Amino acid sequence: MNIKINFKKQVFNRPNENLIFFVDENFNISSLKKSISNSDYSYVSDLIKTRDTKKKIITFNISSKKKIILVSINKNITNSEIENLGADCYNIIKELKKSNFFINSDTIIQNTKNLVGHFLHGIRLKSYLFEKYKSNKTKKNIDINIFGKNIPTAKDQVKFNAIEEGTFYARDLVSEPGNVLHPDEYAKRINSLKKFGLKINVYDEKKLKKLGMNTLLGVGQGSTRGSYLVTMEWKGLRNKSKPLAFVGKGVCFDTGGISLKPAKFMEDMTYDMAGSAVVVGLMKSLALRKAKVNAIGVVGLVENMPGGNAQRPGDIVKSYSGKTVEILNTDAEGRLVLADAITYTEKKFKPKFIVDLATLTGAIIVSLGSEYAGLFSNDDKLSKQLIDAGENVEEKVWRMPLNKNYDKLIDSKNADMQNINYVGGAGSTTAAQFLQRFILNKTPWAHLDIAGMAFSKYGGALNSGGATGYGVRLLNKLIEDNYE
Ligand code: BES
Ligand code: MN
Ligand code: ZN
Repeated sequence: MNIKINFKKQVFNRPNENLIFFVDENFNISSLKKSISNSDYSYVSDLIKTRDTKKKIITFNISSKKKIILVSINKNITNSEIENLGADCYNIIKELKKSNFFINSDTIIQNTKNLVGHFLHGIRLKSYLFEKYKSNKTKKNIDINIFGKNIPTAKDQVKFNAIEEGTFYARDLVSEPGNVLHPDEYAKRINSLKKFGLKINVYDEKKLKKLGMNTLLGVGQGSTRGSYLVTMEWKGLRNKSKPLAFVGKGVCFDTGGISLKPAKFMEDMTYDMAGSAVVVGLMKSLALRKAKVNAIGVVGLVENMPGGNAQRPGDIVKSYSGKTVEILNTDAEGRLVLADAITYTEKKFKPKFIVDLATLTGAIIVSLGSEYAGLFSNDDKLSKQLIDAGENVEEKVWRMPLNKNYDKLIDSKNADMQNINYVGGAGSTTAAQFLQRFILNKTPWAHLDIAGMAFSKYGGALNSGGATGYGVRLLNKLIEDNYE
């Protein structure tokens, strides 16, 4: 849905329109006296006595074209709770006939910082729809006019907007079907982000072959599309300080390859590039808000297809790191793409840390469902920063174990390692142990398994179903709170 937000300098002059007001936890409306007519005031104050005390948002039907909506903000409310109220409010206002809304920010008595900014952020995040392929698109526009002084600063507006744009970009990419967003098209789209000031390098198959990225190439070799590694650089600091690095799995479609998935498990595999979409969305938002940080995004783009030239179970390939891998199951492909991408990132950019994101295992959905991403890390400090950032923006992560004792499960008789654990159990941890082997220089590293988070069948607090963009806000927060 199209949301237009207008900040107005004028004094709020009791418009005969839909009005939204913020009140305290007791629904004290005395501050509204100057903003609404006497008759509306007494109507609201009478009805409010019989309100459902569990409700945080109450709508008063003054007429079919005029509602007064009260949003209750309690004293210790968190930013993410305000965003959730914005999203709830969006669900109410999108159903109303008249879609012009007016807010008098001067009646806000709660001294919550950036209340209006977070509220609008919640509305905008919730309003996203992917309608590109619908003939009947939602035509409705919602106009929100905010009067008065309690509005986000110009700088905060840029920041909120950048995070929304980055999240929406990630959602757009994840929502695209495999026939449209194949690796060739994906590489082109990333390349177009140059216009925001990102430095982009696209490595095609020829270059990857030269570099020796054979675990990545092996996954894509059954596809008629190309395979790519794409790097994005954001230089927000003039100095040579080490960059932060983000690496994403970009499997544009995962059929499983020769180890073909059954139809029921294959139909969702258009979102198997969500890890990479988060990295791309994050880089876009860092550029849009001109973040004072040096950051690198690296994504491996492939399509995992069966075919005459596809990789076979039993194949042995040599990775960019020099380590050899026996491919026992071609459906455990994400780790093969990430392996080369991670080693390359560490060697080329010598980053302060590497965070990788991937829809890596079905097992993480068994463990954590759609509430937490799995976090696997060799570094306690980075882990804590991710956990805290996640709590803050409600994109939560839960730390899961790594332990060298799991290594024997992926040691191979014929090569340095095998790409699946044949004994069974701990599927997400053994995948993470596999990735860890491609960190060669002890760089602090965290792996986020987002298989349960990237796509939501029923919708969540800040999304209306479909691609969630999970991770963009988490990583923005990680950077903002610790590295800017
Ligand atoms: N992309 C899948 C993981 C996945 C499953 C993501 C469900 C989102 C929803 C991954 O490539 C995969 O196929 N993993 C296998 C690994 C197994 C063969 C060791 C899995 O989880 O079954
Ligand atoms: Mn797979
Ligand atoms: Zn996959």
